[in-house]
Amino acid sequence: MSTPENIHTEFHRMLGREAKEAQLKQRGHVFWFYGLSGSGKSTLANALERKLVERGFVTKILDGDNIRSRLNRDLGFSDEDRWENIRRISEVARLFLDSGHVVFTSFITPKRELRELASDIVGSADFTPVYVKADFETCAKRDVKGLYAKAAAGGVKHFTGKDSSFEEPEAGSVDWVIDTDRQSEAESLQALLDQVLPLIQSDSQA
Ligand code: ADX
Repeated sequence: MSTPENIHTEFHRMLGREAKEAQLKQRGHVFWFYGLSGSGKSTLANALERKLVERGFVTKILDGDNIRSRLNRDLGFSDEDRWENIRRISEVARLFLDSGHVVFTSFITPKRELRELASDIVGSADFTPVYVKADFETCAKRDVKGLYAKAAAGGVKHFTGKDSSFEEPEAGSVDWVIDTDRQSEAESLQALLDQVLPLIQSDSQA
């Protein structure tokens, strides 16, 4: 990416990620949870964060509704706005990664190209996409926020899964899949914990 005119970056003077990770005794990583609204992304990210904090890890959650109520309050749900939403969040995730954090993001990220954008910005070596899988009918039945009922009544523009599409991971993709249709929350959490820990433990812990 080229640097805009009159901007002089100072990255070289900053204390690097390795120093931060050594201080925190962990390896930073971004776990990018994606899936339909109501699939369980935020529930799992929050539960997982608690488990990790109990073990002494330093974490950060970036969550759709929270980010959209502040940093991205100017954005809606058109394709262009979703792109900008994911671009900005990816840059924020990257900043936390630079300071050695274990980051969990929780955004629908409905298109493969959006997941690729996030991976490119964060850096694929430090990025794990996690598909939190639940079909539209299940999410509509759960309807935690009442949005599915509202969308069915025609009250939500560009609603994901209804008039805005959601692309599942391609067959053979490396994305982790957590099937909240078929697993209990405790099972999903345990599966995640078992997969996450080896990626964030520093060599002295492993
Ligand atoms: S994304 O597509 O750009 O990744 P994001 O995760 O930030 O979406 O925001 C999704 C959240 O916004 C949903 O969980 C829901 O609460 C709310 N929301 C409001 N309108 C919509 C809509 N049209 N489609 C999907 N989610 C919506």
